[in-house]
Amino acid sequence: MTNFASWVKSLGQALKSFSPYHRGLMKLVSLLSIILILSACAANHGKHQHEQAGTKNERYLDPKCNAEEWNKGFESMEKDTIAHMDAMLAHLPLRKGDVIADVGAGTGALERHLAALVGPKGKVFAVDVAPAFIPFMKKRFKDEGLTQVEVIQGELERTTLAPASVDVILVVDTYHHFDHPAKMLADFGQILRNGGHLVVVDFKRTPGARQWVLDHVDKSQEEFVKEITGNGFTFLREEKIPFKESFQLTFRKN
Ligand SMILES: C[S@@+](CC[C@H](N)C(=O)[O-])C[C@H]1O[C@@H](n2cnc3c(N)ncnc32)[C@H](O)[C@@H]1O
Repeated sequence: MTNFASWVKSLGQALKSFSPYHRGLMKLVSLLSIILILSACAANHGKHQHEQAGTKNERYLDPKCNAEEWNKGFESMEKDTIAHMDAMLAHLPLRKGDVIADVGAGTGALERHLAALVGPKGKVFAVDVAPAFIPFMKKRFKDEGLTQVEVIQGELERTTLAPASVDVILVVDTYHHFDHPAKMLADFGQILRNGGHLVVVDFKRTPGARQWVLDHVDKSQEEFVKEITGNGFTFLREEKIPFKESFQLTFRKN
């Protein structure tokens, strides 16, 4: 018998032994409990599927995840980060010879451009947790002749990169996907060299934002800044880029 069924049975037995007044009171209490249980179930049903499964990355971690299909969406000109890619990359605090980690690289839309920015003596780590994106990126970069790009299978709580091995971390449309932001930020603090930068590009969750953003992104821009500065970084600036619905924030490791 389930806990709920045995609870109802013992409640029924208890009711029989009470006076009519107490029975009425008990019935009211049980009715209220049932209403509470039902509203909790309804609230849970309204949550996104990814939250129910305990990760925001269920679709990316799915063995049936199709990298070709995702690639089409990731490279759509509808996206701020594709339409304004030149401006976005021009604001990166990068120099020739630097090491940059693109965390949440997806299918690798940015890597060719990042490789050009750091030059042949620099290095680009393309980190992602989606197993299907790893071979897709490896083939892509081999075909593109990008010898200084290395593909890394990341984990939900860490990049797996070596301590003090990176000058700049770039997180594009991915921070809101982090299941464990504080752990990721702690890892960023470890893998960045002293004076290293973190650049976060994400969606503005404003009251007038489109429904997809409101459903998908759980923090406002101010909350992003508060969380990141509360976990080992100093906020430097918001870049001026004519994005329609995104922001680009630059931080320095403390
Ligand atoms: C919306 S996609 C963005 C991909 C790419 N940056 C772009 O803008 O097209 C989010 C990506 O973040 C990855 N991701 C989520 N959590 C991650 C984590 N902790 N570390 C690395 N990648 C992560 C997902 O697998 C997915 O590829």
